[in-house]
Amino acid sequence: MRTWNKDIINKVDKEVELMGWVAVRRDHGKIIFIDLRDKTGINQLVFIPVKSEQSSDKNNVYEKANTLRPEWVIKIRGEVKKRPKGMENNNLKTGEYEIEVKDLEILNEAKTPPFSLDTDGYDINEETRMAYRYLDLRRQRLQKNLKARFQIIKFIRDYLTEKEFTEIETPIITKSTPEGARDYIIPARLQPGKFYALPQSPQQYKQLLMVAGTERYFQIARCFRDEDTRGDRQPEFTQLDIEMSFITQEEIMELIEEMFLNLVKKLYPEKKIKLASDGRIIRMSYKDAMEKYGSDKPDIRDNKDDKNELAFLFVVDFPMFEWKENEKRWDAAHHPFTQPKVKDAIEFQKLFKENPAKILAEQYDFVLNGFEVGGGSIRIHNSELLQAVFEAMGNKAKDIQEKFGHLLEAFNYGVPPHGGIAPGIDRLIMILENEPNIREVIAFPKTGDGRDLMMNAPSEIDKEQLKDLGLEIKNKE
Ligand code: AMO
Repeated sequence: MRTWNKDIINKVDKEVELMGWVAVRRDHGKIIFIDLRDKTGINQLVFIPVKSEQSSDKNNVYEKANTLRPEWVIKIRGEVKKRPKGMENNNLKTGEYEIEVKDLEILNEAKTPPFSLDTDGYDINEETRMAYRYLDLRRQRLQKNLKARFQIIKFIRDYLTEKEFTEIETPIITKSTPEGARDYIIPARLQPGKFYALPQSPQQYKQLLMVAGTERYFQIARCFRDEDTRGDRQPEFTQLDIEMSFITQEEIMELIEEMFLNLVKKLYPEKKIKLASDGRIIRMSYKDAMEKYGSDKPDIRDNKDDKNELAFLFVVDFPMFEWKENEKRWDAAHHPFTQPKVKDAIEFQKLFKENPAKILAEQYDFVLNGFEVGGGSIRIHNSELLQAVFEAMGNKAKDIQEKFGHLLEAFNYGVPPHGGIAPGIDRLIMILENEPNIREVIAFPKTGDGRDLMMNAPSEIDKEQLKDLGLEIKNKE
């Protein structure tokens, strides 16, 4: 039966069977040392040459070991031994032990990898890392990041489950929902000339789930935005998407505060969190943030060189609208479903006429170390006000019906007051793991220009597929 590398410490002088990859090979005189890697760590294997009069079996094992190269996949049987005094390796959890190998089976040979796998990998050309991501992911740092990601998501799931939330999946092939970026579009074969869009977020679905009486929804949701990629931005990313009914802004912020403070305490006990004097996450109005820091996501750490300092912040009281100079219209600063701080549609129209820039929204951003790690709002739950906001943003009645008719209709059937938030999971993990960009915490990220170099996507499709979809490529640049 197979033993994990990490478990050999409980098997001294016993025989074990191990499987994994050759990480490093060292020859000392005639003795061959192999670092064997599996998902749990590294062990040292020792192959000792035997005198010719001893059994040829043993000789075979040694001769076979002599052919081993990095990244070959092997299976061994051997005895766990305490290493001689002075030969221990303190960098390994199993560094006081080694395996005297009795039997070796080569399961798979490997070409020499295009880059080394036993470093942190930061200095390797990124295009090469991405093209061979399955090798890049073998390095310890990335394995650790993937595990941390899993632990963080597991914590969140358990936490929200305790709080009466239901995790619900919403469609990926759907209709455009505005979050301020371009949509990814899918042609609909069965409806020629029509298109689905990938969701920029599950915003409308989660609001419709509130109409449906779900009351507390969350989803580890994949979102898609066709925008230029940056260190903290991927075309495809993950949100912890939350929506609640009969809830206030304060209650939503409290939930997020409690969840993330507990998460850090449990999973990153070494981190120091900067809090207000009352022990709470610091809150700041948009106006104060802009005046004091010139940013709506200020980095308020005391010492920006300290890897273990976390400065969470809630920025509140955002303006409802921002002026889009290129489109010559007022657009929602967050999204058009956000509740402006007004009583009703009539007051809204009056204030909008006076000065749109002055209308504040029940919107809050969650900031960590200068990154926007979440955004949310209380939603409009009155269909007249929602209609008035769509109009204020320059939508014609026909467009409103086409784009949002389903939501306006739904709001005629007893919609509870509701609101929510969506922390960006990739950014949060990036900061918690002290990584310089979110690509380091995503298993298969895209390059700056939106390509997957390993799968070679996007790629052309053949003529038959185009014909099926009723599409024609006019000019390729
Ligand atoms: P928003 O658009 O502010 O809100 O997004 C919420 C959070 O998602 C993260 N994020 C991203 N992370 C990586 N790559 C991207 N391209 C990217 N874009 C956004 C950020 C951001 O704070 N539906 C609303 C939420 C709500 O109102 O409940 C929404 O999506 O951390």
